[in-house]
Amino acid sequence: MLLIHNGSLVSAAGVRQADVLVDGERIAAVIEGHLPSLAGLGPDLHVVDAGGLLVFPGLIDVHTHMRQPGGEQKEDFYTGTCAALAGGVTSIFAMPNTSPAVTDRATLDLALDLARAKAVCDYGMFLGATNTNQRLRLDNPDLHECGLKMYMGSSTGDLLVEDFGAQYEHFQSYPHERVIAVHAEHEPAVRYFGQRGERRPPIAAELEVARAVALAERCDRRVHICHVSSRREVELIRDAKARGVKVTCEYAPHYLFLTADFEHGRITEQRSRDLQGYAPGHALHPAALYQMNPPLRQESDIETLWASLDVADCIATDHAPHTLEEKRSPRPPSGVPGLETMLPLLLTAAHQGRLALADVARLCCAGPAETFNIRAKGRIAPGFDADLTLADPHEEWTIGDRPILSRCGWTPFAGWRVRGAVKQVYLRGQLAFADGNVIAARGAGSCIVN
Ligand code: DOR
Ligand code: ZN
Ligand code: ZN
Repeated sequence: MLLIHNGSLVSAAGVRQADVLVDGERIAAVIEGHLPSLAGLGPDLHVVDAGGLLVFPGLIDVHTHMRQPGGEQKEDFYTGTCAALAGGVTSIFAMPNTSPAVTDRATLDLALDLARAKAVCDYGMFLGATNTNQRLRLDNPDLHECGLKMYMGSSTGDLLVEDFGAQYEHFQSYPHERVIAVHAEHEPAVRYFGQRGERRPPIAAELEVARAVALAERCDRRVHICHVSSRREVELIRDAKARGVKVTCEYAPHYLFLTADFEHGRITEQRSRDLQGYAPGHALHPAALYQMNPPLRQESDIETLWASLDVADCIATDHAPHTLEEKRSPRPPSGVPGLETMLPLLLTAAHQGRLALADVARLCCAGPAETFNIRAKGRIAPGFDADLTLADPHEEWTIGDRPILSRCGWTPFAGWRVRGAVKQVYLRGQLAFADGNVIAARGAGSCIVN
């Protein structure tokens, strides 16, 4: 048995003093207040002193790119899940825009086999929608995917379902209680503006979010909007939810913390210092490193996102690593890594009063579990998996000064002073990460979708 003693438990309801008793892989009991005396608890009890630390349910990141199969120069299930643990994340969902893409039983099995052998945290794997695989789920009711991912607009990789008919058929035929997660950018708008030198303006996202919502409403089914980035998207989703449409959505840290000025190279050292205690001496990244789909937005969009955290069901990283060499090439790929920085950034924002610790637990733990029907995760309660993230809310450090575990080896937040550090992570009762080191062995992670 394991006792996490003296910690401050964070849940969607707030922060409270409580001890957590772990038996094997599960939480056996939550003891409100703290056990006054540990005497008589037996010699087999291992006590961890979490005094001064926050104890979160292990974070669940429903949007990551682990790059396997085919993109191992950027990441694999080992390095990617090491990055997850370093960020306090104990479960990840991996996206199917790999090479080959995960679009049928054989490729899903291949990706799940790779994850089983390498992952150090728990995982689920998305199936990718294509123009022809609408019947896949109907014909294979025993698949173990965490959801269907539909690229309604193009991005990294070759997955794209842009025609209305193919989209509609997927919305009709994919089991309605399961989640279709969409990359919503309107492909004709992406093309039109791209040809005129304007990269993916907000109207592209707005148009396709409207379409996704309309499809979900018409088909009376679940849809999950990935990486909401702009004001109108938020408004559309808020209205749809109020009408009872079964829509959920995620915000990504980069849209909360970075503006388009980064991508356009308009950020000066002074400006970044103003934004968030930028540590002097850290060279600013070249602009291409901040290129992602959808692109970074204006300050007014960011303000809307922060003011509308109630519209979000999850915060998910969209951890999308590319090597520095690829990023510095003439046509850099889009995407940034995010697993190692999400919690420190959010703890810093909590310290600044921009959100409550309870919001962090709702958006990174309970919300993702609820959105994707993940059993026995996302909360600290008896019977739940003992996935626990212990974080020091006071520790100040500079992102980039500590080793980066993602294979890509860089972060768009290098140089940012943050307040909040992940100290220990337990995965189903086992210490998996402590003081900067991954302890879990390859293959310690399990598929959370049965
Ligand atoms: O910037 C992005 N990168 N957006 C996506 O939708 C895909 C991702 C990637 O896989 O690199
Ligand atoms: Zn996307
Ligand atoms: Zn993505």
